[in-house]
Amino acid sequence: MSHYQTGPVGVEIAGIGTAVPDNVVTNADLEKVMDTSDEWIRQRTGIEQRHRIRSDQGESVKHLAHDAVLRALDAAGMKADELDLIVLSTMSSEMTCPPTACRLAAEIGTKNAGAFDLSAACCGFVFGLNTAYGLMQTGQYKNVALIGADTLTNIVEYSTKGRNGAILFGDAAGAVILRKTPDSDKGLIAQTMHSDGERWNDLYIPETKFDFHEGDTFDEWQLGKLHMNGHSVFKFAVGTFPLVIEQTLERAGLSADDVDHFICHQSNRRILDAARNRFGLAEEKFHINIQRYANTVAASVPLVLNDLVTADRVKPGQRVMFVGFGGGLTWGTSLWQL
Ligand code: UT7
Repeated sequence: MSHYQTGPVGVEIAGIGTAVPDNVVTNADLEKVMDTSDEWIRQRTGIEQRHRIRSDQGESVKHLAHDAVLRALDAAGMKADELDLIVLSTMSSEMTCPPTACRLAAEIGTKNAGAFDLSAACCGFVFGLNTAYGLMQTGQYKNVALIGADTLTNIVEYSTKGRNGAILFGDAAGAVILRKTPDSDKGLIAQTMHSDGERWNDLYIPETKFDFHEGDTFDEWQLGKLHMNGHSVFKFAVGTFPLVIEQTLERAGLSADDVDHFICHQSNRRILDAARNRFGLAEEKFHINIQRYANTVAASVPLVLNDLVTADRVKPGQRVMFVGFGGGLTWGTSLWQL
């Protein structure tokens, strides 16, 4: 006999917290170490600054995730030992083993809650929402911490040869506490998750010379560094973004007007503007904060949500669509009723 819950389990986003390193790197700072300019970066990406961890002093993705999850627990009025599960979405795990989520769980004192890392690049947080919600539907997880955290500044090259990675990425973490609620209207309305592994080489981190795609020339300095075909990812994102939003609205039987906020992965302001224009959405509904944080991979979506919560713009009963796309290639959405 199954002990799984049979009806829908209501899930609320009970608290949110974020963390960014103190160390701020402006476009002017980058001008000093590579051939680029503040004007070029602003025009082509909308980015004005990014935060960068001090890995030489031992800072890692775990420290950011730690601060973010404690702030989220505080906002939810909960203690770490009430968590049943921790999902850490990241492509910057400290080591391949153990999962960083396990050390994080021990540090915050969760008393043996389940913990794992989820690897889906820039889709990490959105795929994490869908995964956590699905697990909560079994009725066996009541309080789940989902964290999106990344530190790509560790794996981009801070010189002219790696400049497109250096200008684009920043470090951050954002966490939410997902809590079971008796109100079964709250939670996920529709979701999508997709991938196209044929295009893996648009964004990858070669570890050995055998990892290089046949179309890319092996180059020693690129080992362990992000290899990105910016043009190709740009075209993919601009094309896919509207399609996946449309598909989600269709699955939910809703129109764009029925959604109060679109919270999208902050990849490049031009990509976001193109998607917003396609739907004719008002700027107040389609949020952009890339200027302050740059592209923070799995952390970008919760960073935007946190801005809205802090500004008191997120209200119970609203509908929010979370959208991600990135390495894999991967793309997907998570549409919530708050
Ligand atoms: O999170 C998901 C993962 N990644 C993305 O979403 C990235 C998507 N792609 C992008 O955001 C953009 O492709 C980049 C920002 C990475 C690059 O912008 P772009 O407009 O595609 O630049 P480009 O490579 O086409 O280069 C245009 C020009 C070139 O000069 P010429 O040949 O026109 O004279 C480049 O040499 O801009 C020059 N350039 C730069 N100049 C200053 C390229 N990168 C830079 C730079 N600083 N960083």
